[in-house]
Amino acid sequence: GRGHHGGVDSLDFTPVAPNKLDQLSVPKGYHQAVVAAWGDPVTPDAPRFDFERQTAHAQSKQFGYNNDYLMVLPLGRGPRGSERALMVINHEYTDEILMFRGWKDGAGAPIEQLRIAMAAHGMSVVEIERVGRTGRWRLARSGRRPFNRRFTATTPFLVTGPAAGHALLKTKADPSGRRVLGTLNNCSGGVTPWGTTLHGEENINQYFEASAPVDPAYVDAFKRYGLPIAANSGKFWSRVDERFDLAKHPNEANRFGWVVEIDPHDPDAVPRKRTMLGRFKHEGATVTIAKDGRAVVYLGDDEKFDYLYKFVSTDRQRKGNSAAAHRHNMDLLDHGTLYVAKFTGDGSDDGQYDGTGEWIKLCTDKESFVPGMSVAEVLINTRLAADKMGPTKMDRPEDVERNPVTGSVYMACTNNDSRTAAQVDEANPRATNKHGHIVEFDEEHQDAAARTFTWRLFLVCGDPEDPSTYFGGYDKSKVSPISCPDNVAFDGSGNLWISTDGNALGSNDGLFATATRGPERGHVKQFLTVPIGAETCGPLVSEDQRTVFVAVQHPGELDGGTPETPKSHWPFGDQPRPAVACVWKD
Ligand code: FEO
Ligand code: CA
Ligand code: CA
Ligand code: CA
Repeated sequence: GRGHHGGVDSLDFTPVAPNKLDQLSVPKGYHQAVVAAWGDPVTPDAPRFDFERQTAHAQSKQFGYNNDYLMVLPLGRGPRGSERALMVINHEYTDEILMFRGWKDGAGAPIEQLRIAMAAHGMSVVEIERVGRTGRWRLARSGRRPFNRRFTATTPFLVTGPAAGHALLKTKADPSGRRVLGTLNNCSGGVTPWGTTLHGEENINQYFEASAPVDPAYVDAFKRYGLPIAANSGKFWSRVDERFDLAKHPNEANRFGWVVEIDPHDPDAVPRKRTMLGRFKHEGATVTIAKDGRAVVYLGDDEKFDYLYKFVSTDRQRKGNSAAAHRHNMDLLDHGTLYVAKFTGDGSDDGQYDGTGEWIKLCTDKESFVPGMSVAEVLINTRLAADKMGPTKMDRPEDVERNPVTGSVYMACTNNDSRTAAQVDEANPRATNKHGHIVEFDEEHQDAAARTFTWRLFLVCGDPEDPSTYFGGYDKSKVSPISCPDNVAFDGSGNLWISTDGNALGSNDGLFATATRGPERGHVKQFLTVPIGAETCGPLVSEDQRTVFVAVQHPGELDGGTPETPKSHWPFGDQPRPAVACVWKD
């Protein structure tokens, strides 16, 4: 093939068959190993993990729960000559029922368990090392590991951009509206050309509760974001910190749902919440550079019938590693324009789901284009703003990422079983869309800053024998079944790697790869399957094309799964533990 010699990007593996095994299944000739699991040490002084005697203090120094987005940033040689890298990981959410024996709910749980859950959220930055000359990587256990760091639900964040300091972000504990404790529900993310990483705060509504009806002024916005408006039972984190009670502190909810930016190479850097990228259920945030050097960020809002967004910076990225360039680039995401996407079909007569699209301006950092809303209001209640501008309601926009080889952009729409026949359109063509689809689009003149694009569906997922499916025009008798695409990534040859969440075909979730151009376009092959109850996250093909990293999220998360009756024993044979694994060839 076109791939690097011997690299995984040759896609010459034999597909893994769909299965329900409690293991990470990889193709013949490949190996797999755990890189880091829930509870592994992150900071050098981290206590050893003890499932039976976990503490919040230990958890705040250990690898968090439910690893999702992952990025690997090469570091060069370590103290003993091994090749080292920084691995940056999101810890999206917690499964208390799998983490604690006898768990019932947050109302009656020991406070320490609520604190453990809070400390198991956020991100980890951890040094990893290559094992010998193989494609295997493991946690670096020697050396200073100065970058190793945890971010949790209580880490101080600085709010930046046009909404920072707005009245809707001010609370009793933070009258400045600029300093937030914690990041929550970090799902997917992206890496910037200036060496930082971005992390989407997604389903943040689940962390808030209301001890009484909330202030009526907040009701419309809270409803649109799935936040409680009347007395409800949430996670009861208000038992730890009153700010999670929206009857008392409604603005606290406005301080989550952002894209956060961290600098993994600077252990002292204060992480930022970038308000210019809008507030919604951010799946991820992937960066590309426009023809003229401006930064472009693609943003999916993962909810049924929600939208695709794009940010284009005002200033150009400055290249190079100088401190001045870094300072300049660290401001890029605070100034620019936020757009929302409209997809227009060209009709079904041509036998293709395709058409044209436009990016509708919502606001710049100085000017709002949404009637009756200021810039800050557009950014804080972005969903309400977008609703007024006529964008296309999609089937849950998850990861959106530009192919670095071809320039085309791919958006995973994971599923939408609520779409009715009357609600189908050419970009979301199936009612009760259980298996999802992937949209491919090309910005005008292949310029990521363009205002218009052309689009077509690349995959309509499901069992290839289902006549409603489409695999990029490839022979459907030769493809792997795929359902519920969630995260996407590209290897060095521009092949698309797709991980799934919630396989509605009855088998375990997995990771798939396909070419996007040429005779192999749409030849979807399953590269791995994850254990029982798990979702496949992260996927990353290393720069040298030798290793595939995958975040195995929530193994054993099935009805009846508890520490007494685990439904998965992956990866170590006892209690299930979310873990990042690496896969490599002989
Ligand atoms: Fe956290 Fe949209 O998946
Ligand atoms: Ca058409
Ligand atoms: Ca996801
Ligand atoms: Ca998902």
